[in-house]
Amino acid sequence: WGSSKVRNAVLLLGLCDSGKTLLFTQLLLGKFVRTQTSITENSATYKSKNDRGGSWTLIDVPGHESLRVQIVEKYKVVARAIVFVVDSSIFQKDVRDVAEFFYSILTDNIVAKNAPTVLVACNKQDITMAKSAKLIQQQLEKEMNTLRLTRSAALSSQDGAVGGSVYLGKKGKDFEFSQLPNRVEFIECSARGSDGDADIDALEKCLAKL
Ligand code: GTP
Ligand code: MG
Repeated sequence: WGSSKVRNAVLLLGLCDSGKTLLFTQLLLGKFVRTQTSITENSATYKSKNDRGGSWTLIDVPGHESLRVQIVEKYKVVARAIVFVVDSSIFQKDVRDVAEFFYSILTDNIVAKNAPTVLVACNKQDITMAKSAKLIQQQLEKEMNTLRLTRSAALSSQDGAVGGSVYLGKKGKDFEFSQLPNRVEFIECSARGSDGDADIDALEKCLAKL
């Protein structure tokens, strides 16, 4: 349990409405379906697009906070990869919430120990106002640096009770994703696409390399 052999799950995580369920169906069926906000996880076998024919259990985790916490608890030990889905079209408004969610995942001690590959899927690139993967990465680094300051101040005032979380990145340096033990990649995608054709090639390529 938790050894690399049985870590065969790919978790789709992200805020409500970021596009996880549509990505899930696009990856599995290659087609558009109308979705509603998820109340339970979806799970299915995903065959990666490579010669080795590896397959993973793809798990679509609801974004709603009261639901996702338990489901993440259940699957984090078997995560080989985490696809963290961001709605690039409203990123500016969401940045704080996105950063808090991502921070809680990356500082989890099981996630830090197993170091699953992290793919940040900057989704909804078909929308004109969508922010680029590069900008999203820079903004998240800034925001998570701030979070780290406030969080570690809160922790040290509690007699060092660090229940279940690790320090994010390198002490004494501004936070950058490159400081994490995980392989982290930022990719752009569109689960819907402008003319009904999804653009998820970059994501599929990364999943083929797991
Ligand atoms: P929760 O289940 O509430 O956590 O949301 P979710 O992340 O599963 O979102 P879902 O896949 O249901 O998508 C939310 C809405 O965004 C739906 O109306 C989708 O059709 C739409 N959507 C998802 N991906 C894209 C995209 O790449 N571009 C555009 N334009 N719309 C998208
Ligand atoms: Mg959903």
